[in-house]
Amino acid sequence: MEFSRAIKIAPSILSADFANFGAECRAIEDQGADWVHVDVMDGHFVPNLTFGPAMCAAIRPHIRGVMDVHLMIAPVDPFIEAYAAAGADVITAHLEAGPHIHRTLQAIRNTGKKAGLALNPGTGIEAVAHLLDMVDLICVMTVNPGFGGQKFIHSQVDKVRSLRAMIGDRPVHIEIDGGVTVETAPLVAAAGADVLVAGSAVFKGGSVANPAPYGANIRAIRAAAEAA
Ligand code: DX5
Ligand code: ZN
Repeated sequence: MEFSRAIKIAPSILSADFANFGAECRAIEDQGADWVHVDVMDGHFVPNLTFGPAMCAAIRPHIRGVMDVHLMIAPVDPFIEAYAAAGADVITAHLEAGPHIHRTLQAIRNTGKKAGLALNPGTGIEAVAHLLDMVDLICVMTVNPGFGGQKFIHSQVDKVRSLRAMIGDRPVHIEIDGGVTVETAPLVAAAGADVLVAGSAVFKGGSVANPAPYGANIRAIRAAAEAA
């Protein structure tokens, strides 16, 4: 994974056909996805349940590029090894998921994987200042985590701008997760984001049998972000 600030589109398979994950991963990559975003939810940290490490291991052979695993779980530490073994390239944990985020980020880095830090919409960036040299990615949640298809929270755009200034020239990605569309992508790209997660906006109108709309959606989001 070479570091670059070029725009990367990361479709969230939370919006994919749950009976067809392997084919969906191949389809979105064939249609131009840069990363594949996997939303892991535990029904405790967030009010929804999704994928365990066995599911991640099962889809790994169907992903050529980056598998970006977003852990919306608490506690996190007991499961880091399992998601690393499942083949994640990036493992992202929430700042709000426990009292020892520093230890969690160390544990992720110790597996040899890239370490991501996610911030809920209500969380400020002050705490991040002391973690900047131990993260490879900061995920700014632009919805409250738990579900796809929610409305983008505009107050987060200023947060992205401040975070971008705080990061300076460190090789740290800014990822945006939630409500990314052709309309909202330019706002966060202009503020300094480089990884755009999009679930409903990528998968809408398409299917494994008809994947061309995925490509059109990915190109439209990328073009809107790059024009910003
Ligand atoms: C929300 C997840 C997101 C979500 C994005 O908890 O982390 O990745 O699936 O979905 P959209 O793009 O539909 O908001
Ligand atoms: Zn996510």
